[in-house]
Amino acid sequence: MSTIDLGSAAALDHSRYAVTLSSGKRLVVFRLPRISPGPSEPALPTLSDTAAQENAWSYYAMEAECPHAGGPMTDAHIDIEDSAYVASCPWHAYDFNVETGESSYGVKACTFPVEISNGRVMLRIANASNLTLSAIEPVSEKVKFKHGSRIDAWAPPKYLDDKATLSDWCVHILNTTDPELKIELTTHLFSIFATREQTANPMELGAGTVQPPDEPPREESINQVAPSRMPRAGRGGTVKSRIAMLHALANIEQWAIDLAIDICVRFATFQTVTAPSQPLPRTFYYDWLKVANDEAKHFSLLRARLEELGSSFGALPVHHGLWESAVRTAHDLRARISVIALVHEARGLDVNPLTIEKFRKAQDPESVEVLDIIHNDEITHVTTGHRWLSWICEQEGTDPVKVFRENVQEHFRGAVKGPFNVEARAMAGMGTQYYEDLSGQPWSGEIIAGG
Ligand code: FES
Ligand SMILES: [Fe+2]
Ligand SMILES: [Fe+2]
Repeated sequence: MSTIDLGSAAALDHSRYAVTLSSGKRLVVFRLPRISPGPSEPALPTLSDTAAQENAWSYYAMEAECPHAGGPMTDAHIDIEDSAYVASCPWHAYDFNVETGESSYGVKACTFPVEISNGRVMLRIANASNLTLSAIEPVSEKVKFKHGSRIDAWAPPKYLDDKATLSDWCVHILNTTDPELKIELTTHLFSIFATREQTANPMELGAGTVQPPDEPPREESINQVAPSRMPRAGRGGTVKSRIAMLHALANIEQWAIDLAIDICVRFATFQTVTAPSQPLPRTFYYDWLKVANDEAKHFSLLRARLEELGSSFGALPVHHGLWESAVRTAHDLRARISVIALVHEARGLDVNPLTIEKFRKAQDPESVEVLDIIHNDEITHVTTGHRWLSWICEQEGTDPVKVFRENVQEHFRGAVKGPFNVEARAMAGMGTQYYEDLSGQPWSGEIIAGG
């Protein structure tokens, strides 16, 4: 447990604060008038001035990113429902009880207790020690509905019924062309799959009952070009250059959603080769749906940032290069994880800090914030890849480093080139023995980073 002093109650007089902790975690703290007790409640004893003042306010802390798709909860709209405060996300209006984090949409936000002790506002975070306060900033009192128009314009996606299997859902998401709907369905699937895992009625896998598309379709309005024909993004010095970089990243994230969903359906009939052969455990599906959920959030954050900079997703050409690696590895799960998660996604870990630095230099802290969130999540995606390749190798009595290197040599085009982010790769379980002096098939094109 960490107890973090946010400051004196008298000095914190705004209604909401953006808080950053030493771990990089971002929270929003709301300071709201205490909801008056009902007539049946006992009257409060007479209080001193200071105590009366303290007693007039309630404080609530919740994660700053909406668990649906990363919307900014610092800009949430606050209402009272059933004698409790509810914060509605500005992006798709999901409602969250600020105390319990519960939402009528079934997802749950993380909330944290805040108490007043000796006139200080104290935040408590369980299961974490030695956390300290890095920054606390008041958020403008005016609620900003940056994407408010989206709520009206938004046609609801097609939800499948309770009998739909995981494979049905995955094929449905892969065939959904509108990225907004793809995001909604992906976050919904992760939420219902995770919730039903805890019940007597978990979602059926439907392994082998349906076929994923060879390549997920895209909207007709999207201008697809070869990776080599993509416009040069430049170094981030101009808004135009930064928009080009964010647009390229949003495109990769949209493919990354499809890749994580595709792995759940395409390889659902997987069995380990050594006797007794084994199917993939259900935690495999949970882990990749969690990755898909993160990728949906990443796309959403980038799309919103593009709009804040005056552009939008689809305004620039995109390439389908990442899916080429998916096609080359569609026959085997070991190859798929090796090339997609442990080459392309791991390359993202090398490149992201350089990209973040360009945005920092360009004094674009909003984009830096988005890219930081993405980078930290991506480390966990490489971890997921590494964990499941290691699991397969353990069952089959093989060496994951050898299996990885052989698959890259055979099914990846290009050299696995540095400079490497050795630290971030090590956090994800990838020591240098995996990637040093490694090349795939001869190829002179650019290596796509991220996913
Ligand atoms: S409701 Fe928050 S991102 Fe969709
Ligand atoms: Fe991502
Ligand atoms: Fe990822």
